[in-house]
Amino acid sequence: MRSHHCPNRSRFPLPFLGLALVLLISLAPPTSCCTEQEKSSLLQVLAGFSQNLGLAESWRSDTDCCTWEGITCSLNRTVTDVSLASRGLEGSISPFLGNLTGLLRLNLSCNSLSGGLPLELVSSSSIILLDVSFNRLTGALSELSSSTPARPLQVLNISSNLFAGRFPSTTWEVMNSLVVLNASTNSLTGQLPTTLCLSAPSFSVLELSINEFSGNIPPGLGNCSMLKLLSAGYNNLSGTLPDEVFKVTSLEHISLPNNWLEGALNGITKLTNLVTLDLGGNKISGNIPDAIGELKSLEELHLEQNHMSGELPSSLSNCTHLTTIILKGNQFHGELTKVNFSNLPNLKKLDLLHNNFIGKIPESLYSCSKLTALRLSSNHFHGQPSEKIGNLKSLSFLSLANLSLTNITRTLQILGRSRSLNTLLIGSNFLHETMPEDDGINGFENLQVLSMSDCSLSGTIPDWLSKLTNLRVLFLQSNQLTGPIPEWISSLNLLLYLDISNNSFTGEISTALMEMPMLKSDKTASKVFFELPVYLFSPFIQYLKPGAFPKVLNLAINKFTGVIPGEIGQLRALVSLNLSSNKLTGEIPEPICTLTNLQMLDLSSNHFTGTIPAALNNLHFLSKFNISNNDLEGPIPTVGQLSTFPDSSFDGNPKLCGPLIVSHCGSAEASPESINSREEIGSKVIFAIAFGAFFAVGVLYDQMVLARYFG
Ligand SMILES: *[C@@H]1O[C@H](CO)[C@@H](O)[C@H](O)[C@H]1NC(C)=O
Ligand SMILES: *[C@@H]1O[C@H](CO)[C@@H](O)[C@H](O)[C@H]1NC(C)=O
Ligand SMILES: *[C@@H]1O[C@H](CO)[C@@H](O)[C@H](O)[C@H]1NC(C)=O
Ligand SMILES: *[C@@H]1O[C@H](CO)[C@@H](O)[C@H](O)[C@H]1NC(C)=O
Ligand SMILES: *[C@@H]1O[C@H](CO)[C@@H](O)[C@H](O)[C@H]1NC(C)=O
Ligand SMILES: *[C@@H]1O[C@H](CO)[C@@H](O)[C@H](O)[C@H]1NC(C)=O
Ligand SMILES: *[C@@H]1O[C@H](CO)[C@@H](O)[C@H](O)[C@H]1NC(C)=O
Ligand SMILES: *[C@@H]1O[C@H](CO)[C@@H](O)[C@H](O)[C@H]1NC(C)=O
Ligand SMILES: *[C@@H]1O[C@H](CO)[C@@H](O)[C@H](O)[C@H]1NC(C)=O
Ligand SMILES: *[C@@H]1O[C@H](CO)[C@@H](O)[C@H](O)[C@H]1NC(C)=O
Ligand SMILES: *[C@@H]1O[C@H](CO)[C@@H](O)[C@H](O)[C@H]1NC(C)=O
Ligand SMILES: *[C@@H]1O[C@H](CO)[C@@H](O)[C@H](O)[C@H]1NC(C)=O
Repeated sequence: MRSHHCPNRSRFPLPFLGLALVLLISLAPPTSCCTEQEKSSLLQVLAGFSQNLGLAESWRSDTDCCTWEGITCSLNRTVTDVSLASRGLEGSISPFLGNLTGLLRLNLSCNSLSGGLPLELVSSSSIILLDVSFNRLTGALSELSSSTPARPLQVLNISSNLFAGRFPSTTWEVMNSLVVLNASTNSLTGQLPTTLCLSAPSFSVLELSINEFSGNIPPGLGNCSMLKLLSAGYNNLSGTLPDEVFKVTSLEHISLPNNWLEGALNGITKLTNLVTLDLGGNKISGNIPDAIGELKSLEELHLEQNHMSGELPSSLSNCTHLTTIILKGNQFHGELTKVNFSNLPNLKKLDLLHNNFIGKIPESLYSCSKLTALRLSSNHFHGQPSEKIGNLKSLSFLSLANLSLTNITRTLQILGRSRSLNTLLIGSNFLHETMPEDDGINGFENLQVLSMSDCSLSGTIPDWLSKLTNLRVLFLQSNQLTGPIPEWISSLNLLLYLDISNNSFTGEISTALMEMPMLKSDKTASKVFFELPVYLFSPFIQYLKPGAFPKVLNLAINKFTGVIPGEIGQLRALVSLNLSSNKLTGEIPEPICTLTNLQMLDLSSNHFTGTIPAALNNLHFLSKFNISNNDLEGPIPTVGQLSTFPDSSFDGNPKLCGPLIVSHCGSAEASPESINSREEIGSKVIFAIAFGAFFAVGVLYDQMVLARYFG
């Protein structure tokens, strides 16, 4: 995150810097050095940094401070700029900066500075630009009294710090020149500032997202006649968008996602300069008004996860600049055919997941040649995607899951024409059809994520999958597939997540699985992002890129027989291994104990025999463990990681014996007391530990591993 926003400082090579200094020093007339007072203030500032990565070499008391790195002076040698962004600075921000009476711009962003923000800087009578974003500054922001003379500050960026406490209110009354206020990503509380624009008529950017602001959107914003950006997403704001805001026709960007806002959208259509509207994750109700067509500049419309309903108005096609329409998780209904998508040639992303749309996928959609992501899942569309989908040359994300599609053979033949596809989710369709075997399935060479789960498909794992050499994630669970796991599985060099659970696969656990390159090595998959997030067990977990999927092998609920191959020890990158509910026999192989990345290990409901390998305690990250319902014997470990799991992890193994009477262990008949005693020692402490571990990592995991549905 930090490095994403903060540019790495490009350092001049030292000889060049030296030369530049020499030149500057020799060019500067000796009489026009910076004043001793400014120099000494700057040295005080330097002294405040506990870590300055070589800055002290440049800031030497025997040189002119106007030549120091990061310092700029005006012609009369007054310090006007201190630019020390991305310098690896630690320590505190010195109030002595306030002594530089000609200082106009102070930029300390992207360092690791801590402590508070000196009031001297916010209340400075010279500073017009103050950027301390991306540091570790703490404390509350001090309030300036409204009797303070007007201050010249124009741009204030304190975002991405650790500021907390109530946001100032009177401070803004003396900021007559304020244009930009950026305080996003802190822990600030209280109300949004109400009277900003009465004092600062040029105010234009208010960015307060990711804080803890509460209360309503203040009607006073109605006086902000120059406001272009209003951003306060991820707070705790409630109430409706006040009518006064709809008078601020200068507004170009409204971003208020993930609050508790309610009411309808009607007034918003007066904001004819809107480019982005993001109200996702609120409680907005009503429909998209007909007048939406008035928003001729609209590019992004995010209304996901609200309580909206009604049909999409045909006037939406008048917003010809639209690039993004995200409406998932509402109750929109009706046919899409009203909207003429041919008029939206710039459309890149359309997400309608979980609504009640009906009818056919509109033909006009296939003329949106820039479309990169299309998600229509969980609606009541019917019919096939058209062959024209091949026209969508940029389409990389397609989700048609849970739409009652039929004829998987034909669907795959059609979709194979979509050469750019990276993610294809078509699960929960094609009920009881047969997995196409034939070589008529072509294309998909760029596919990284494929879901064909929950289709009750019969047949086997088809050979055409072996050609998808970019595949990273494959979901085939909850079908009725039979036969063995094909040997070519290990030739899918990038495959890191394989879920074939809840099928009828037979045979032994193929050693080919033990050769899967991504499960053997710590290599991570591509860093490319999905065009839209992929939801597992929607909407609980979202994945933003294929590389974010954990390394998982899920073979549960099948008819696998034989022993677990010792080569399992090769899969040392594995994070989750589920072999439960099969017909596996033999002992739990010792090499499993070397899979130290495992967080989830489920061997339950098989026919395993022998003792529990003590070395399983080496699996320090294990937060979910189940060996219940087998034929294991011997003692249950009383120490280490394994002792933290509840009885249910071990239940259903009559020959396992409890910890209190270890001496009795070894005799095949464990007495009933031994089980009871284990329950007694399974005291609150043990449960607390187990639960702690489980909730830290386990809960999300659980949902993920059990997930059957993919959006
Ligand atoms: C130097 O110039 C600035 C404007 O650039 C002015 O505000 C300041 O008063 C001047 N200082 C002196 C000492 O002349
Ligand atoms: C410089 O700043 C410090 C800290 O704010 C203050 O104590 C001191 O009085 C100032 N000195 C002058 C000359 O303004
Ligand atoms: C501060 O410097 C950083 C890094 O050079 C830059 O990205 C940022 O825009 C600057 N801040 C302002 C307000 O100009
Ligand atoms: C801080 O915010 C200002 C205005 O919003 C912006 O110009 C500047 O680039 C931001 N600083 C960084 C480091 O992003
Ligand atoms: C606010 O500052 C952050 C840096 O902390 C920057 O990334 C963002 O673009 C700024 N927002 C606005 C609206 O300028
Ligand atoms: C705008 O400011 C005027 C005073 O200049 C005030 O009477 C009015 O109520 C304000 N409007 C809003 C919406 O606060
Ligand atoms: C957020 O607001 C809701 C209602 O608007 C309130 O019930 C809840 O307690 C608030 N949460 C926090 C953390 O302030
Ligand atoms: C779309 O815009 C055209 C003119 O640009 C107008 O005639 C038509 O009524 C608008 N349609 C809707 C539904 O707003
Ligand atoms: C949709 O718009 C296109 C391009 O503007 C036009 O050619 C076509 O006739 C329209 N279709 C319908 C059904 O109105
Ligand atoms: C599948 O879609 C229907 C609506 O068509 C919806 O009611 C159901 O919840 C969806 N199933 C899942 C698992 O999301
Ligand atoms: C499915 O589509 C194929 C063409 O790709 C066709 O040959 C076949 O008959 C269709 N199956 C059914 C059941 O309609
Ligand atoms: C297994 O698949 C069937 C449908 O084939 C489904 O009804 C059942 O819920 C699935 N079980 C699990 C545990 O996923």
